[in-house]
Amino acid sequence: MRAVVISELTGPSGISVADVPEPALTHELSDRLVVIDVKAAGVSFPELLQTWGKYQHAPELPFTPGLEVSGIVRTAPEGSRLSPGDHVMAMTNVGGLAEVAVAPEFMTFALPENVTFAEGAATILNLHTAYFALHLRARVNAGETVVVHGAAGGLGTALCSIAAIAGARVVAVVSSPAKAEVARAAGANDTVLSDGDWRAEIRSLVPAGVNIVCDPVGGSRLIDSLRVLAPLGRYVVLGYTEGEVSQVKTNRLLLNNLDVVGAGWGAFVRHDPVAFRKIGDEVIRLMNDHQLRPVVGHQLGLDEAAAAFALLADRKAMGKIVVEMR
Ligand SMILES: NC(=O)c1ccc[n+]([C@@H]2O[C@H](COP(=O)([O-])OP(=O)(O)OC[C@H]3O[C@@H](n4cnc5c(N)ncnc54)[C@H](OP(=O)(O)O)[C@@H]3O)[C@@H](O)[C@H]2O)c1
Repeated sequence: MRAVVISELTGPSGISVADVPEPALTHELSDRLVVIDVKAAGVSFPELLQTWGKYQHAPELPFTPGLEVSGIVRTAPEGSRLSPGDHVMAMTNVGGLAEVAVAPEFMTFALPENVTFAEGAATILNLHTAYFALHLRARVNAGETVVVHGAAGGLGTALCSIAAIAGARVVAVVSSPAKAEVARAAGANDTVLSDGDWRAEIRSLVPAGVNIVCDPVGGSRLIDSLRVLAPLGRYVVLGYTEGEVSQVKTNRLLLNNLDVVGAGWGAFVRHDPVAFRKIGDEVIRLMNDHQLRPVVGHQLGLDEAAAAFALLADRKAMGKIVVEMR
């Protein structure tokens, strides 16, 4: 089969597409495994970090990256609710950027009606994380205001959409007018450019302060994010695309009764099939009842995989990047 291979940790330039053997029927998280003929695979920031060996999950070289896929079930374990031929979306964690992939059964969901393979490959990582961050960690309520940093990215657009469905007013922080359009289409009510005085702009939009800040960017965003929070506000740590792990002095939290909470979806669900399915079922309910869809910004072929990674590295990605097995 053809697959993306990372054979050296030099960034997107270390990626190639090669003929490799089909994957063995093993997975570190389960023995109940589904073999999937992959139609599309998502590409996200964690896979980009893997090309430099900077992600917490670092498989031995050479390896095929790819956290999530959509496709058609080839085989399912005995007694499974899935059958050969079913259209599914699944977390593979590794190996998804290939024509054939293996996923734990508990991480595999039937593709909802009217959801394309490209959308299926863009759903689990970002929409599940956004649901976890907003509902389980930030405890969002209708009528609250939510600021989303990096709001035009894969996770950012998911946060905008799920916050909007929850009845929140969404303020998106983005680096360009084109990205502002993407965030608005995903559900943002207001947009603010990150290269200006975004803190003052948010203050003038929401003088009483906002209730929640969701931050996949990190670095310098932290301190001013705490400053735009209303009393009892919640700042949610999601990642560090800016590079630096941010730090906070606890007196800032004391002064305004603020929460700083981590939202590490993978760490929460990877060893807990019940939690995984619960969040997944809620996301599917939102897809069916509210037409929730991931924003797919780029669809490339397998031979263009290096370009997909470069879009992320060059900060050009809008919504989720999907690589199709065509
Ligand atoms: N906590 C979790 O469970 C979880 C799950 C999934 C992903 N994540 C993390 O969430 C983050 C976002 O992932 P993603 O796949 O959504 O990435 P993405 O699509 O590339 O979006 C990231 C956004 O970060 C902003 N950014 C600011 N400085 C940047 C820089 N120096 N380089 C690149 N982007 C920069 C960009 O927005 P502007 O250009 O508008 O500033 C970009 O749109 C990553 O850190 C990822 O590891 C966490």
